[in-house]
Amino acid sequence: MSSRPILVIGSTGKTGRRVAGLLAEGGQEVRRAGRRTDPPFSWERPSTWPAVFDGVGSAYVAYAPDLAEPGAPARIEALTSCAVDSGVGHLVLLSGRGERNAQRCEQIVRESGLSYTLVRAGWFAQNFSEGPLLESVRRGVIAMPAGQVAEPFVDVDDIAEVAVAALTDDRHAGRCYELTGPRLLTFADAAAEISAAAGRPVEYVAVSSEEFRAALSSEAGPRYADLLTDLCAEVFDGRNADLAHGLQDALGREPRDFADFCKAAASAGVWGR
Ligand SMILES: NC(=O)c1ccc[n+]([C@@H]2O[C@H](COP(=O)([O-])OP(=O)(O)OC[C@H]3O[C@@H](n4cnc5c(N)ncnc54)[C@H](OP(=O)(O)O)[C@@H]3O)[C@@H](O)[C@H]2O)c1
Repeated sequence: MSSRPILVIGSTGKTGRRVAGLLAEGGQEVRRAGRRTDPPFSWERPSTWPAVFDGVGSAYVAYAPDLAEPGAPARIEALTSCAVDSGVGHLVLLSGRGERNAQRCEQIVRESGLSYTLVRAGWFAQNFSEGPLLESVRRGVIAMPAGQVAEPFVDVDDIAEVAVAALTDDRHAGRCYELTGPRLLTFADAAAEISAAAGRPVEYVAVSSEEFRAALSSEAGPRYADLLTDLCAEVFDGRNADLAHGLQDALGREPRDFADFCKAAASAGVWGR
């Protein structure tokens, strides 16, 4: 692929930080983009987009806050059109497994005329250590509207490695990689594994959507609470309760296991001691 800089949109986030780090370690010139970078990038201000795209060879796109947001498809459409106008050679979109809106966004990228790779990920393991569930884990109670559904939690380090491969190797052009971890776990199983690794009690409590929305609303505001509650209602119906092989297809190895994620997060001290 080209020797031009690689743009990482969402470069301080769970995936973008790792993608940018791996690219820089590999000697690539990286342009990090977010609301506090120079130049800044804001999803709400399309006037900021041409400056970050200027001169880049390929781009990683992690939409914020979530592709489940109703306005996401229109933004992805405008962004891909800006990428085309800027002469971007290849775009990698982080997408969500089993999510209607995310799949609309994938379709927009497919039809954009850009060379692309779609990285369609399941529920992140790191939601428990860096994301919206971190505080719940620290308090010892993970309350989710997920019933007894099983999820193949995917490690964000695996997502980042696939994204970097897609950004730097033409062989991944036109592919959609569906990424999961190697095991199906219920949220109760996940809480038990976190508890064992952290050495402190952590339990899962299945709550209703309304209970979840109300609790999250006071912590994260009604807009994010609505978004995440609706997303949970959509994806925790068993549609993602199977394993995918995108990681093996992209990288030729097995995905990282949830137990290894727990060990690493516990030894980094993220859940307290
Ligand atoms: N969590 C999951 O389980 C899961 C599963 C599948 C797919 N996904 C997808 O993952 C994507 C999120 O990726 P992530 O988890 O790597 O990111 P993240 O950890 O949620 O971080 C968000 C990133 O976007 C930036 N950002 C936030 N608001 C912004 C705005 N208004 N304008 C510009 N930049 C903004 C943030 O930087 P600043 O704050 O510095 O601007 C940060 O770098 C979503 O599109 C979601 O659909 C998530």
